[in-house]
Amino acid sequence: MAGPLGIIGSGAIGGTLARLAVAAGLDVILSNSRGPETLTELVRELGPRARAATVTEVAHEADLVIAAIPLVAYTDLPADDLAGKVVIDTTNYYPQRDGQIPDLDEDRSTASQLVQAHLAASHVVKAFNNITFASLGNGARPAGASDRSALPIAGEDATAKARLTDLLNTLGYDALDTGGLAGSWRSEPGTPVYCDPYMPGWPTDSLTTDELIQWLLAAPVIPQSAQRVEELVASAVRGPAGGYFPEVQ
Ligand SMILES: NC(=O)c1ccc[n+]([C@@H]2O[C@H](COP(=O)([O-])OP(=O)(O)OC[C@H]3O[C@@H](n4cnc5c(N)ncnc54)[C@H](OP(=O)(O)O)[C@@H]3O)[C@@H](O)[C@H]2O)c1
Repeated sequence: MAGPLGIIGSGAIGGTLARLAVAAGLDVILSNSRGPETLTELVRELGPRARAATVTEVAHEADLVIAAIPLVAYTDLPADDLAGKVVIDTTNYYPQRDGQIPDLDEDRSTASQLVQAHLAASHVVKAFNNITFASLGNGARPAGASDRSALPIAGEDATAKARLTDLLNTLGYDALDTGGLAGSWRSEPGTPVYCDPYMPGWPTDSLTTDELIQWLLAAPVIPQSAQRVEELVASAVRGPAGGYFPEVQ
């Protein structure tokens, strides 16, 4: 890949993607809402292939940029700075966190269509939204491995989707092209391909947030082939938009 992979939002998903990218030999530039000085520890952990910057610097320096932020923050993405770039949208709609978004509640849009409308001059592609950060980090496998998983991708631009497919391949996943952003509800919360297939269920005990994170990280990954992902995506029926976080103590 020419140039570094840009990451806006360096929490559970952004941090996991940064780890996979560095492990695969890519350079990454990370950013968050609070500024590069708050990413010192993560950058130290990631090593010399990683550095931290502001969101604006990431948008300028990378032409493949992951947006791993809460959906509610999508209007903060710098549209002018990201013009012409490929932006990988990992967002999901969680009204508990994001508030009610009528365009989603009334099925007038998908989350990624909102992001694309805001980033009108960028090529927005959807990926990494239908797997927990823990399964994502633990489930990466080399091309051809019998237990390699596929992830659904969506987007309007074929070149952008080809670049995304290359990135998934490099990070340890096959890509299953599910079409345009209007159809990306098929991998949103509550659909058959959303998170559960890649994991052995959810804990039945009431856990604290830290305990839940440790449980998720320790859980085995259930590989999902491209054929299985295609079946799951095809079986989706559009229900109420938005997901609900599990109860924690
Ligand atoms: N966690 C999962 O397993 C998972 C799986 C699939 C998809 N997703 C989706 O991926 C997205 C990220 O989830 P996450 O779990 O990684 O969230 P997270 O752990 O809370 O991390 C969010 C990151 O976004 C940054 N951020 C927030 N507002 C921002 C803004 N206005 N500008 C720049 N950066 C901003 C935060 O920075 P600060 O800390 O500095 O505020 C933080 O680095 C969400 O839409 C989520 O639904 C999550």
